[in-house]
Amino acid sequence: MAQVILSNFTLFADEKEIQKWRLFCTRPRGSNFRVLLVKLRDGNVEMKSKVYKIATEIMTGTGENLFNYIADCLAEFKKEQGLEGKDLPLGFTFSFPCRQNGLNSASLVTWTKGFSATGVVDQDVAKLLSEACKRRNVNLDIIAVVNDTTGTLMSCAHADSNCYVGLIIGTGTNACYMEALDEVELWNGDKGEPKQTIINMEWGAFGDDGSIEDIRTDFDRELDKITLNQGKQLYEKMISGMYLGEISRQAILKLAKEKLLFNGVVSAELQKPWAFESKFLTDIEKDVSTDGLVCREILRQLNCRDTMEDVTVVRAICSAVSTRAAKLVTAGLAAVIKKMGRKTLTIGVDGSLYKYHPRFHPLMDTFTRELVPEARVKYMLSEDGSGKGAALIAAVAVRLTGK
Ligand code: GLC
Repeated sequence: MAQVILSNFTLFADEKEIQKWRLFCTRPRGSNFRVLLVKLRDGNVEMKSKVYKIATEIMTGTGENLFNYIADCLAEFKKEQGLEGKDLPLGFTFSFPCRQNGLNSASLVTWTKGFSATGVVDQDVAKLLSEACKRRNVNLDIIAVVNDTTGTLMSCAHADSNCYVGLIIGTGTNACYMEALDEVELWNGDKGEPKQTIINMEWGAFGDDGSIEDIRTDFDRELDKITLNQGKQLYEKMISGMYLGEISRQAILKLAKEKLLFNGVVSAELQKPWAFESKFLTDIEKDVSTDGLVCREILRQLNCRDTMEDVTVVRAICSAVSTRAAKLVTAGLAAVIKKMGRKTLTIGVDGSLYKYHPRFHPLMDTFTRELVPEARVKYMLSEDGSGKGAALIAAVAVRLTGK
């Protein structure tokens, strides 16, 4: 039996937490991270997990506070599981762009998704977590640091050996895939068998060099202005859960200001950045009734006095924003599928937007058939895949090193 405790710093939203929406925030609400206890026995995976909230103040404060907080949560989790004092191996899913120095060492390149904790960029995040654990007397041995895409690919490949791509569509978006070493010009690691490696594409940053300017809209530009990382992660900002609600709000606001919605009355609530959460968009799209009661209720909370036509227009905006996101993700995947040249392929997926949005998966299926008709592609949802995968990696490493 391998027992792995895992701090999964993946930022997908927990359903219960989302239900406590704070409506009129002027910045996106905090984030979550998940701690998992994973037991592997005869190929079966047994998990216990707990979600911890990260307040915006911690996301944007000092790195020391952020890692202390994670260490505190790990301590609490170990205590609750009766594992106090036990020295456990840890796989750390750190869902941000990193320079991978080794299996258990990765330096943060830049923060994304509303984080800006100081003193972390260019630092080894495994070391920072390990120091915080020492400060808090938590016995943990960090065996592996992995990106959430890699974790997802690993956990899905464990179940389906035809899985070669890991995809996240949650607060942020990113993908990784298996690549032959000969194709990796920058590879200066070991060249032995198996001659392949996982490439974390960090595709959220696609377009930061201006290459997608022709498809960005004024709404995308207005959204970018109110983010911490202006001009960065432009592809991600057109696709992922952190941003879709705000893009929709920008469009609704413009139509209201042009007197094409709500009789031209622009409520104070509607004018607040981030007031229209991506959860609203998902809920509006889930409601297939003709009268659009859910949309009506959300508009009421935003103090927008709507007519039936207004509801129809707002629903159409939500639908257009999510359809565009699904098209953009699939376009990225189509490029990867073509590059890999496989006839059949499984793509492992994790992330709240993919999981909770009612049309995302069907839309991706349709667009995939249009863009790569020559390939048979299967999308495989992996619940907690990013965390489970990191645990699997840590467990294998422990077995190999005999620690
Ligand atoms: C952001 C991060 C990336 C992560 C993705 C999904 O794009 O930069 O590392 O994989 O979000 O969580």
